[in-house]
Amino acid sequence: PKKIAVLISGNGSNLQAIIDDQQKHPQLYRIALVVSNRPNAYGLKRAAQAGIPTLVIDHTNYSDRESFDAELQRQLDQSEVDLIVLAGFMRILTQGFTQHFLGKMLNIHPSLLPKYTGLNTHQRAIDAGDSEHGLSIHFVTPELDGGPVILQDKVLIEPGESADSLQQKIHQREHIAYPLAVRWFCEGKIALQDNRVQYQQKTLQEPLQL
Ligand code: GAR
Repeated sequence: PKKIAVLISGNGSNLQAIIDDQQKHPQLYRIALVVSNRPNAYGLKRAAQAGIPTLVIDHTNYSDRESFDAELQRQLDQSEVDLIVLAGFMRILTQGFTQHFLGKMLNIHPSLLPKYTGLNTHQRAIDAGDSEHGLSIHFVTPELDGGPVILQDKVLIEPGESADSLQQKIHQREHIAYPLAVRWFCEGKIALQDNRVQYQQKTLQEPLQL
């Protein structure tokens, strides 16, 4: 099985979805390590409960991004993982770090990229009067939330929808989409090539819709 590391900062519901999926596909991949930049992230408890090794690298102990990322890189290199999965990991990563793991790192973002990079995506979609919103899973490249999108899933924004209810709807869809993308990677069905997603034999111009 492929060895994966999951990086979190908080609740870790996407981590949980991947833990549950891993238990159904033990021959395909194994979560070897969960890393959090916050010592009190609830996701650390989820990992411990599943018997997965955890590591806290508290960013407040580092004077700059470079030194934090250097320690993170050192730990990930040491654990020799095949894939790094960012699951609610709320840190901007340095160019050097993203280059080092290019083609081996996925992120999930709660918007239909390239719309709404950054934070507060649900409220921004509502404020813009959008009729649909969604999630994107992409390869991580040096461009923030700008790497090639592997997979998207959409939800409707209903009249009177709140950011909270929208976030809940997106979360449910994320918990289906993220394990699927992780399996695709581990099965060799997707790869990053020339800043595009290569799907087995063909390169698609548009992200796949779930
Ligand atoms: C997810 O909705 C994910 O899309 C988002 O954080 C949430 C984490 O939830 N990620 C970002 O905003 C990345 N910029 P979780 O901790 O319950 O998995």
